[in-house]
Amino acid sequence: MATVQEACLLRDAGLRVPVSVLSPIPSAAAREVASRRLRPSLSCLAAARDLRRAARDLPGPVLAHVELDTGLGRYGWPLTPAGLDQLQQLAALDGLTVASVYTHLSGTSRAELAAQLALFEQGYAKVAAALGRRPRRHALASSALAAQLRHPATTQLVRPGALLYGLAPC
Ligand SMILES: Cc1ncc(COP(=O)(O)O)c(C=O)c1O
Repeated sequence: MATVQEACLLRDAGLRVPVSVLSPIPSAAAREVASRRLRPSLSCLAAARDLRRAARDLPGPVLAHVELDTGLGRYGWPLTPAGLDQLQQLAALDGLTVASVYTHLSGTSRAELAAQLALFEQGYAKVAAALGRRPRRHALASSALAAQLRHPATTQLVRPGALLYGLAPC
């Protein structure tokens, strides 16, 4: 889902399956996200700390995705030296488990997409090294799927939106 509100509608309707929230969560929503067992996307250390604080008295770790910014510049963890340093700190937070690492591609040409995927691979390698394990990774949404883009970083999960509704990706 895009937002916490949308994800809560699914919980209210009785869905007990994992529900992910792909846009950044406001800090005021961290408690609701944790208590409803939603899986938010983290783009910065502050959001990770909010979440961990909000989940302190709940059983088990809180699961979250890490979104890496490979060029879209909308959300996503910056792959700058400071951002990479913060990924190390994220890995050291207890009570929080990284369920997956992903990027949302922004380019349209194959060359642009390949450059972003190469960047994603570098960022993913840093996260995996900091965590000491290799979480699942994913990158493809409708337009890259429609273009039949293939890359080793993209074979585990996909995130189509428009295609699921029969819409041609723009
Ligand atoms: C992180 C993320 N993944 C996947 C999608 C789905 O994109 P599309 O509808 O282009 O498949 C979106 C939509 O904005 C998104 O923000």
